[in-house]
Amino acid sequence: MKLIHLTDTHLTTPGRTLYGIDPLARLQAAVAHIARQHADAELCVVTGDLTHWGEDAAYASLRECLQMLPMPVLPLIGNHDDRGRFRAAFPETPVDDNGFVQWTQDTSAGRFILLDTVIGDADPRRPSAGYFDPRRIDWLRAQLDRAQADATPVFLFMHHPPFGVGIAAFDDINLVAEDARAFGALLREYGPIRGQIRHLFFGHIHRPISGSWHGIPFSTLPATAHQSGLDFLAETDRFTHEAPGYGVVLITPEQVTVHISDFLYRGPQIDPGSERLHD
Ligand SMILES: [Fe+2]
Repeated sequence: MKLIHLTDTHLTTPGRTLYGIDPLARLQAAVAHIARQHADAELCVVTGDLTHWGEDAAYASLRECLQMLPMPVLPLIGNHDDRGRFRAAFPETPVDDNGFVQWTQDTSAGRFILLDTVIGDADPRRPSAGYFDPRRIDWLRAQLDRAQADATPVFLFMHHPPFGVGIAAFDDINLVAEDARAFGALLREYGPIRGQIRHLFFGHIHRPISGSWHGIPFSTLPATAHQSGLDFLAETDRFTHEAPGYGVVLITPEQVTVHISDFLYRGPQIDPGSERLHD
C-alpha cells in the first residue's frame, strides 16, 4: 500500500503570507507533485494544522486544493484549527459521540485510527498544547479492543506527539503530561505485548523526525508551510525557510518505509554513469 502523509499546511485567507511564505502556493505545489508522482497512492492523511487562524476562507481554499488530489484525503485537526469551522467545511469527516474529530478507516494495510488531540471546545487551558482526556482514552481503548477482535494491524495518526522530542519549545506543547501518561499506559497494554500497533504518524513539529516509543515506530515530517529550526538551546520557536516536504509511505505486511519528498527541489538531476544532467 502507498500512503501520502501531509502535515501542517497552515493555510490562511488566500493571498495572505505567513512568515514570508504563501502556504496555499506551497500546498498547491505539493498537490501537483503528488498528482504527478503518486497517483497510485491509496490514501492521503493530513495530520493537522490545516489552517493557521481557522478562517472559513482558509478551509474553503483547503477543500478546493485537496480536491485536486487523485486519492481520498483524510484531514485531522491541529491546535491551529477551529473544530467548529473545520466541521462546517468538511461535514463528511466523521466525529465520535463527544464531537471529537476522530474515527477509524479500514485500508488494504490495516485499520487507520485517526485521533483528535486538540483542546476541548470549552477548556480554558493553553490552546497550543495537546489533550487526550479520559473520554478520548475510552474511545481509543474501544477501537483497540475492536482491532484486536478483528485481528487487524493498527496505524495511529495524530497531530500532537504523545511524547517529547528533545526540543524545548515543542516539548512544552505536546500532549499535556497527565494525558500523555494515560495515552502511554494504554499503548503499552496493546503495543509491545500484542504487536498490533505498527506505526504512529504525527505532525506539529514541522521537522522530519523518526524513532520508536514503547516499541512503537513513529515518524513526522517537514510541514508544507514554514519549518522549525533544530535549535536545542532556544526557549521559543524559531521558524525557518528550510525545505518543505511530504511523506510517501510504503506499507507491506513485513515493513513500513517512510520517504520524504522535497517537492520544491529544482536543482540538477545527474545520471551517475554519464554525469549527464536531466531536466
Ligand atoms: Fe503546525
